[in-house]
Amino acid sequence: MGELEGKVALITGAASGIGKATAERFTAEGARVCIVDFDADAGRAVADALGTVFVQADAGESSEVDAAFAACERELGGVDIAFLNAGIAIGHSDMATLSDERYRQIMRVNVDGVVFGLRAAIRALERRGGGAIIATASIAGLIPFPPDPIYDATKHAVVGLIRSAAPPLAAKNITANTVNPGMTDTNILTDDAKQMFATANFPLMPASQIAEALVEIVTSGRTGECWVCQPGRDAEPYRFHGVPGPRLDGATGRVPPGVTEAGDGSWAH
Ligand SMILES: NC(=O)c1ccc[n+]([C@@H]2O[C@H](COP(=O)([O-])OP(=O)(O)OC[C@H]3O[C@@H](n4cnc5c(N)ncnc54)[C@H](O)[C@@H]3O)[C@@H](O)[C@H]2O)c1
Repeated sequence: MGELEGKVALITGAASGIGKATAERFTAEGARVCIVDFDADAGRAVADALGTVFVQADAGESSEVDAAFAACERELGGVDIAFLNAGIAIGHSDMATLSDERYRQIMRVNVDGVVFGLRAAIRALERRGGGAIIATASIAGLIPFPPDPIYDATKHAVVGLIRSAAPPLAAKNITANTVNPGMTDTNILTDDAKQMFATANFPLMPASQIAEALVEIVTSGRTGECWVCQPGRDAEPYRFHGVPGPRLDGATGRVPPGVTEAGDGSWAH
């Protein structure tokens, strides 16, 4: 028996890279997978190889995302796992020369796409009585990434969105997590970038390693976490630092008069 026997998974960006590897792995674990991508030729080829359904959809168009979830429910009987994975990079480091067009191009896929996917996924999973949502963020969603600041901003947005959406979803029996891969050998990396990593002896992960992490995330039952994947390491939830909050006066619940913040998060007279 596979770990996902009887489950139905919808995967965006499943025509290539991490999405494709996850579709293959989920299928091997007994799930039926709905392949969603805007690249019809590559998407159909993946679906045909796995003997499953392909739906062409642009993740940045809410009507197409809704239609993809509806098609999955119609064709495969429901959705138990939604992997919101479609994403692009723009590789533009100079903010002073960033065009509006380039900015909108990435925001609509990497942020709008996850928002539209999350909304559609919650509705579909509720009809199923629960399930698992995973969005692909990145290591760039946890650290600065100067070669592509807008990409970095989109992945921070995905981290904040999923961590914020997760707590109330627990009552609906829905888990929501991000997967945060480091450098992975897929088409999102340019040939020049791959050459640079090879020259520097910097290891790239195979997409299958991220697919392996996806099985663990989905079956863990954990929620609201950001699972870091790095070469040579098992996937693990990132341990966020505690953010200092206000130190309040016990009697009034207010910051006492004459007290100022010390600068390290504590309060001093
Ligand atoms: N490869 C890495 O090093 C790496 C690291 C961290 C995070 N990621 C993230 O992983 C995710 C998957 O990327 P990948 O590395 O597999 O790259 P990839 O280019 O191999 O795959 C991305 C897939 O998304 C599809 N796609 C792009 N825009 C779309 C849209 N508007 N609607 C529907 N489908 C669309 C593409 O057609 C492609 O099939 C992305 O969100 C990416 O940001 C990748």
